[in-house]
Amino acid sequence: MIIRKAELEKVAVDPSQYPLAGYPEVAFAGRSNVGKSSLINSLVNRKSLARISSTPGKTRTINFYNINDALYLVDLPGYGYAKVSMEEKKKWGKIIEEYLNKRQELKLVILLVDIRHEPTGDDKLMFEWMKATGSKMVVAATKSDKLSKNQINKNLPLIRKSLNMALDDILIPFSSETKQGREELWNIIEKYCLI
Ligand code: GTP
Ligand code: MG
Repeated sequence: MIIRKAELEKVAVDPSQYPLAGYPEVAFAGRSNVGKSSLINSLVNRKSLARISSTPGKTRTINFYNINDALYLVDLPGYGYAKVSMEEKKKWGKIIEEYLNKRQELKLVILLVDIRHEPTGDDKLMFEWMKATGSKMVVAATKSDKLSKNQINKNLPLIRKSLNMALDDILIPFSSETKQGREELWNIIEKYCLI
């Protein structure tokens, strides 16, 4: 994929603010701090297109990145961040759910989990719920640079088991540091978005 254009085009909290162009969309879901914004930056080879922070809860809106006037990469707010109020959590939950439930342009959801840890209850719920809606789902296990090859090979089957993934469900180890998994993810995105 040759990136000619990568721009933050829309910031939305409400469906009325989603873009109208009709391009296919790929959404990135996952726990706060798991590396969604970093993964988007890696995909498009830009260091700081999507804002990254070591403080969880950075992305609080749905951010639509226009790629080549052909596709939107959609950065969702992270879930499961403990240090926000119940009120705030409900608000983010609603923003995420509304988008994932209703968006016609959504072709693929990439669920990010941390390769070092067992998926959380929220991760399991998200995977189960998305599969039940019939959405195409791929799981990316992030921060693979933090583990040895042996540890990666040990953890991947544990993540599969914990999320109850089927044999044909795709799980990709990914690192925004080493770019492991980048090509594979692009191949999948291109396949589902027919670009
Ligand atoms: P929210 O916007 O809060 O939901 O977080 P996010 O999922 O967008 O995470 P973000 O990309 O902001 O990354 C969180 C932290 O993890 C930052 O300090 C990143 O530098 C770090 N990080 C993300 N991906 C990787 C990775 O592949 N390897 C390493 N070593 N660190 C990473
Ligand atoms: Mg973010």
